[in-house]
This record gives sequence, C-alpha cells and structure tokens, in this order.
Amino acid sequence: MDVALEKRQVERAYDFYAPVYDFIFDWIFAPGRQAAITQLDLKPNDTIFEVGIGTGLNLPLYPASCRLTGIDLSQEMLDKAVERAQKLIMPNVVLKVMDATSLDFADNEFDKAVATYTISAVPDPVAVLREMRRVVKPGGLLVLLNHFRSDRRLSGHLEDLVAPVCTRLGWKSNLPMTPLLKQVGLTPELVIKVNLFNGWRLVKCVNRK
Ligand SMILES: C[S@@+](CC[C@H](N)C(=O)[O-])C[C@H]1O[C@@H](n2cnc3c(N)ncnc32)[C@H](O)[C@@H]1O
Repeated sequence: MDVALEKRQVERAYDFYAPVYDFIFDWIFAPGRQAAITQLDLKPNDTIFEVGIGTGLNLPLYPASCRLTGIDLSQEMLDKAVERAQKLIMPNVVLKVMDATSLDFADNEFDKAVATYTISAVPDPVAVLREMRRVVKPGGLLVLLNHFRSDRRLSGHLEDLVAPVCTRLGWKSNLPMTPLLKQVGLTPELVIKVNLFNGWRLVKCVNRK
C-alpha cells in the first residue's frame, strides 16, 4: 500500500512534534549533522539556504556570522529555530515559513543549499530538489542528509513494509535515492553513510546547470 504524504498532514505532524523534537532528533542524528555542515565547506561570504530547517538543530554548527536563510512549512518548528538563532546571536540568519516546493527566491540566489533529514519528510521530494537547484548558483553545492531506501534486499523490504505507518507519522521510510537524484538531474560527487548502523546517507552534489 502506498500512502502519499500530504502537505497539511506534514504541517500538522511537525507542529505537533515541535515541543519534543529536539529531545528525539538531537543526539542520535548529531554525527550526520556535523558531517553535512562540514561538507558545505563554508567560506566567509557564502550565502547558505537550509530547507526544512525545523527547530534549527544545525544552527550551532554554523559560524555565528553565517549568511543563512532557513525555511520550514511548520510555524511551530520555525518558532523554536528563531529562539535558537536569538540565543546563539546569529545576526545574519533569516527564517521564514515557506513551502519548499514553491520558493519565494530568485534563481541563483544562494551559493549552497542543505537539507538534513528533510527530503523524506516532504510530500514532493522531486519538486523540492528542483527548487533547490533553481535557487542555487551554477557550480554551487547541494548537500542532502537523509535515510533512503536500503539497497540490501531484506532491509529494503522491511522499509517497504513499515512505509504506510511511517508515512502517517510524517516521513517516508523507503525513498529510493538513485532514481530520485536522476529525476532531478543530480549526480552525487560524494555519498557517505553516517549515524547509527550507517543507516543514513550524506550526499553532496554540484549544481551543474
Ligand atoms: C524531520 S524534520 C527535519 C528538520 C531539520 N532539518 C533537522 O535536521 O532537524 C523535517 C522538516 O521538514 C519540514 N517540511 C516538510 N515539508 C516541507 C515543505 N514542503 N516545505 C518546507 N518544509 C517542509 C517539516 O516541517 C520539518 O520541520
């Protein structure tokens, strides 16, 4: 059974998770976050775009002066990110409620974009990746950190089995990586396995357009 993620369902789910999100998603997922921000290879004047920034758990990993724009569909998640940016005194961080499938930014506006644990939580990952490609400059970087469907037969099958439940909770357990990247014209320069049991993949792509 393929249950599609829907925008309102995702919005409601993350508004609901917001108060407890950091408690669940901080420690286990921290190594992947650190690796993702390292792969951005930040330079002092880089403009960074973070898609589905959530409660801003990545914010402490950026330099405080970083020119970062973060968006999220959930107001409750974003409120937490705003609080965190204020505590960390990050004057060049801009946070907005926005749908990643129709971004209110010009073409080629950012040097680099990152999405951590987001691509499998959006209803339309193809549209999100296309928008990320549009707003990142040619030759810029796209860094994705996500759980994708396992290439191993048994694990992949299990991920298919639990997919209807996971979808109802707000994410896809069996999003296949290679066809997705192919569909949006991205070729990974680097794929590394991260986090517990190497169950998540960090994907770095150059925006060739
Ligand atoms: C699993 S959380 C990841 C949050 C954060 N990136 C992190 O690393 O903790 C997924 C986030 O994607 C957001 N999201 C889902 N669909 C979205 C969309 N279409 N546009 C913007 N954000 C979206 C959710 O609201 C949620 O905050």
